[in-house]
Amino acid sequence: MLNEKRDAPLELRRLERDEHDAPDGSVGIDPQHLSRVPVSDAAEGGPCIRLEGAGVHFESNAGPVEALRDITLDINDGDFFSLLGPSGCGKSTLLRVVADVVPLSTGRVTVLGASPSVARKARSFGFVFQDAALMPWRRVIDNVLLPMELAGAVDGAARKAADEVLELVGLQGRKRAYPKELSGGMKQRVSIARALVTKPRILLMDEPFGALDEITRDKMNEELLTIWSSTGTTTVFVTHSIPEAAFLSRRVAVLTPGPGRIRDVVDIALPYPRSREIRDTVPFLSTTSRLRALLAGDGAG
Ligand SMILES: Nc1ncnc2c1ncn2[C@@H]1O[C@H](COP(=O)(O)OP(=O)(O)O)[C@@H](O)[C@H]1O
Ligand SMILES: [Mg+2]
Repeated sequence: MLNEKRDAPLELRRLERDEHDAPDGSVGIDPQHLSRVPVSDAAEGGPCIRLEGAGVHFESNAGPVEALRDITLDINDGDFFSLLGPSGCGKSTLLRVVADVVPLSTGRVTVLGASPSVARKARSFGFVFQDAALMPWRRVIDNVLLPMELAGAVDGAARKAADEVLELVGLQGRKRAYPKELSGGMKQRVSIARALVTKPRILLMDEPFGALDEITRDKMNEELLTIWSSTGTTTVFVTHSIPEAAFLSRRVAVLTPGPGRIRDVVDIALPYPRSREIRDTVPFLSTTSRLRALLAGDGAG
């Protein structure tokens, strides 16, 4: 028989785990831990996510891999912050550090003033992946309710929250559909709704539109900004697309590989709300050319 909990993406399962989990990795939720763990509000008004001299080493069959080195970064509450860099530069690893999936080898990370583990138990973040990672045998509404179900908390309030997020992503009319009946863009909207259903303070997105065609991606980018401005959720967005990072973000950290390091953090001085026409403007094009130069490592800008 299919085990839904075991088949859920790693980050989703990890988000629901705590110290009471069985050592084999199966998900065991202790009802005592369902209530939200209070998070220190020491960070109120300060950075939402703070990394100080953070480094990650992996052991692999080919020997040790230094994925990230000396990452120092503040991501402010309510920000739209992107991590931009080529494949293999450690973007996903950085997101996983924040999500309490990968531990730091050196340095420090705080999320909402506490450790990533405390933030995870307080359900402070939602995660969206490149692959929508929907359960094909579940209807849209039941996919969105999955995080509540894993926590054993599907009640009237949960159903209302699911309806609200489906409305937010424009899929209220498709709640009874199965994933196979949806386009790629719609699947990603379901995945965003699932990440937002628990009303997290932070949304972590790992190349969520990377598998979509360019026209759909542009549309999804506009919709994401609408969602961001209406929820105020601090968003950390991973991409290797320069125009995507420039269009969406308030700030962009440019990462370079071998090991992954921050080359620079760029303020994107384009006003919100942004619509697709902005992509043809001179300020947008000069932003993308600055990001491109930083990625190429020639230091311009
Ligand atoms: N679990 C792991 N074990 C060993 N090496 C890993 C692991 N996860 C990532 N890496 C390595 O760390 C580096 C950064 O990977 P990743 O964070 O996935 O980069 P990106 O998301 O920017 O493509 C790569 O060299 C990758 O092979
Ligand atoms: Mg990645």
